[in-house]
Amino acid sequence: MKYYITTPIFYPNSSPHIGTAYTTVAADVLARYHRLLGDDVYFLTGTDENAQKIVRTAEAHNTDPKIYVDGVVERFKELWRALNISNDDFIRTTEERHQDVVQEIFTKLFEQGDIYKSEYSGWYCTPCETFWMENKLVEGKCPNSDCGRDVELLKEESYFFRLSKYQGALLKFIEDHPEFIQPISRRNEMLRFIEGGLEDLCVSRTTFQWGIKVPFDPKHVVYVWLDALINYISALGYPDGENYKRYWPADVHIMGKDIVRFHAVIWPIILLALDIPLPKVIYGHGWYLSKEGGKISKSRGNVQDSFELIQRYGSDAIRYFLLREMQVGSDGTYSEDNVVERLNSDLANDLGNFVSRSLAMVVKYRKGIVPRTGQEGALERELKELSREIKNTVEKSLEVLDPARALEEIWRFVARCNKYVDETAPWSLAKHEDQKERLDTVLYTFVECIRVMAVLTAPFMPGLAPRICALLGKDEGLIRWQEADQWGILEHGIQVQKGEPLFPRIDISQFTTAEETKTLDLNQNQNLDLNLSQTQAPKETIESVPALEFEPIKEEISIDDFAKLDLRVAKILSAEKVEKTDKLMKLEVEVAGEVRTVVSGIAKHYLPEDLVNRYVVLVANLKPTKLRGITSQGMILAASQGEVLEVLMVTKDLPGGARVK
Ligand code: MSP
Repeated sequence: MKYYITTPIFYPNSSPHIGTAYTTVAADVLARYHRLLGDDVYFLTGTDENAQKIVRTAEAHNTDPKIYVDGVVERFKELWRALNISNDDFIRTTEERHQDVVQEIFTKLFEQGDIYKSEYSGWYCTPCETFWMENKLVEGKCPNSDCGRDVELLKEESYFFRLSKYQGALLKFIEDHPEFIQPISRRNEMLRFIEGGLEDLCVSRTTFQWGIKVPFDPKHVVYVWLDALINYISALGYPDGENYKRYWPADVHIMGKDIVRFHAVIWPIILLALDIPLPKVIYGHGWYLSKEGGKISKSRGNVQDSFELIQRYGSDAIRYFLLREMQVGSDGTYSEDNVVERLNSDLANDLGNFVSRSLAMVVKYRKGIVPRTGQEGALERELKELSREIKNTVEKSLEVLDPARALEEIWRFVARCNKYVDETAPWSLAKHEDQKERLDTVLYTFVECIRVMAVLTAPFMPGLAPRICALLGKDEGLIRWQEADQWGILEHGIQVQKGEPLFPRIDISQFTTAEETKTLDLNQNQNLDLNLSQTQAPKETIESVPALEFEPIKEEISIDDFAKLDLRVAKILSAEKVEKTDKLMKLEVEVAGEVRTVVSGIAKHYLPEDLVNRYVVLVANLKPTKLRGITSQGMILAASQGEVLEVLMVTKDLPGGARVK
């Protein structure tokens, strides 16, 4: 069976955050699950780059929109890598393969009379990229509940798309396909909206030039939503690409509730007009809200650096939290305290503890060699029965796109396994020679329970399964979905090891505030490269990244050698990308009363606005050097491993010029 799943394509006007990550993580779970089922999966994500707000943001940064988005798109790709997202493709709407298809479709719709030229007179909300008629505004502002910002009056020649013509056909389709818009609350909302009457949609702009040109009238650029929605087929090579023939129609378009309207109205009407089959399911999930209640979003300033969170807690723990806390049809609440709570209770206490204590017993009582199982009793039969029931409910929950419920079920199994340890009390069995066979059965059941957990959690926490397999002396071939309720899969005689805890408990007090964690105290930590991870990140973070290759530690130096370095706190006054490079950022920094220019290779990892007014650590007595014609007077310190890089920042009240020693 083929399975085509998509996320929305994200606006790269600012870096991704934990709220935007939810959709992609949820889609990834479904993609991974369907791959485990043996389906032929295609998983698409990407970026929506032709928006007016991109032009505005780039202007504010004094840079060209393409250069600006290139930087942010890298951040999205990095975050998806850090979160173990298994997308098969990443589409950017500035790519030719997309632009060609949009132009072809626009022309076709125009030629068949579904697009016509007229004049738009009304309002536009640039942050939401939405047209509004006067009577929809709320106190003159954008009526979107999470926006409420100023709108701008537009009066321009525009092309219009005849949505009204397709209202009846769309309503009929939705009525005939009750599964098309999910969950049901969104379906009802959409039905009410469409029944209220559809107006033709303005689908071109003339007041800026960034975007895809209308091929037969190039002073117009295509309205960003018409352009963006088409990504779902342009990425497949519409109209005659192999992937298009193989994967369309999409099995699921997953998205946040705010954009269901575009997907449930404009997108199906484009497809109806082109006589293309409609997607099977459009699923609108809730938002992640901050503890104070607002949507997590960059514009509200309540976002936390997702890379920092992943570094601290590990990708699996962040995925687990995001998936577990968003209930179908509602919003979820995000706070770092809640992440730690989930990690400590569900991951460290429940799952991690079961794995380590049961493996420790195999090591202690059978030298780590898995014994042959003896006669099974009522408790083992109960566990087997439960695994059948749970595999079944997990499958049903994922069919209805409810990963939170699936995880709840899996944790019901984990809880039962923990109870099994207490009920069987292997430590007592071990004291009696005549209980040897019973102890063998219990220990064998333990490792089978661990295997079942690895299989069931594999789509949700892709870093975990390989780690469990390694403890069992196996590779990932052990993860076979069909065997999540089969028993007797592991052969006796295999050697297991206890290993390190899978999820060490976290003491939240070590992360008093997000900012403080970045504070670097070189007095205590001599190893510059690793001190962030060694002192602050849980061990699990380091281990969960498979096969890390560290640079070898350099030869010993004396304290006098070290004292030659003059490290200072420096305040970043301004930051801008060095033109024609993707790596270099030019910084003006203030240190001990002077202003210096420093060129640093961090542009792929930071946006200029993320750096200004931050305090960093400068090697202040480094001989100046020229980079791209700019004299760089010093170097700022950053920790890096593979793709991830973090500039070391000082957040306590220390002025530019303070010594770092
Ligand atoms: N570019 C459009 C989508 C075009 S799809 C053809 C867009 N982009 S977005 O970057 O603003 O949002 C992308 C997705 O992130 C949306 O599904 C949105 O709902 C989701 N989220 C943004 N903030 C979120 C939370 N705080 N919580 C959950 N999802 C959130 O809209």
